[in-house]
Amino acid sequence: MDKNQKKREVKLQEKQQKKNKNVGGSSKQKNEVKDRIQEGMMSSKFRFLNEQLYTSESAKAIDMFKENPQLFEDVKYYQLANCIQYHTGYRHQVDKWPKNPLDIIIDELKKDKYKTKNIGDFGCGEGRLEVDLKASGHLGKIYSFDAGKMSDHIVQCDIAHVPVKNNHLDIGVFSLSLMGTNFTDFLREANRVIKPDGRLFIAEVMSRFPDINDFVKRMRNEVGFRSLKVNKLKDYFYVMVFEKEEDANKLRLTSDFKQLLTPCKYKKR
Ligand SMILES: C[S@@+](CC[C@H](N)C(=O)[O-])C[C@H]1O[C@@H](n2cnc3c(N)ncnc32)[C@H](O)[C@@H]1O
Repeated sequence: MDKNQKKREVKLQEKQQKKNKNVGGSSKQKNEVKDRIQEGMMSSKFRFLNEQLYTSESAKAIDMFKENPQLFEDVKYYQLANCIQYHTGYRHQVDKWPKNPLDIIIDELKKDKYKTKNIGDFGCGEGRLEVDLKASGHLGKIYSFDAGKMSDHIVQCDIAHVPVKNNHLDIGVFSLSLMGTNFTDFLREANRVIKPDGRLFIAEVMSRFPDINDFVKRMRNEVGFRSLKVNKLKDYFYVMVFEKEEDANKLRLTSDFKQLLTPCKYKKR
């Protein structure tokens, strides 16, 4: 945890302690105050971790998490903790969202037409997509890739380089995982491992796109994915479906493509 992060947490604790004094002293009230302090600290840690992921190159962010186990002081194994800490905060935030876009993608992939398809979940988090699809009888291979390893079935790696052969996947998924200033590397990596005519699902926070039409257009011209659908989820998320039309290594990626997706900001609580 850096100095500013620590300061923010101390301030929050002081603020809550003041409130505690005003509230009085029943043990129920004290527990509520304690919960609020923990909630605030979790939320602020979550914002800090998020910021690191959105504003660094993925390799750097992943190293930083490995080198700073104190970021994940609550658990013993920091690689695992990387994810637990992050996801405890993440789950918390998700509760406030209207609907989790991951559920929309899982529901779609449960349809019979996808049953035998090979799927890659890039930045899978807890790896729920694989668990849910397998439970519903999915027959194809599913790969869950993430920087953290919350569960045995997750392949721990940087999604800029996944351990899968060219053109092996029928479907790729990025659900809220285009983090890192080099997110274009993730998209090009997905293009490498997805078969021609294979599908790519992307769910992202709407406010991250300064110009969604430009994003969609340049996904085709510079990354080789043609748009099939752009759905809005309650004015909060885009859930998009693309088809692989061209090998990205035959296309020229312009340097300003990165500006088509801005970092996600979470409101301070
Ligand atoms: C906001 S969570 C979304 C998790 C899941 N896809 C969902 O929709 O619930 C983003 C995930 O992407 C992962 N991630 C971000 N950048 C990554 C990278 N370069 N390599 C591997 N995982 C990454 C994070 O570790 C995190 O688990």
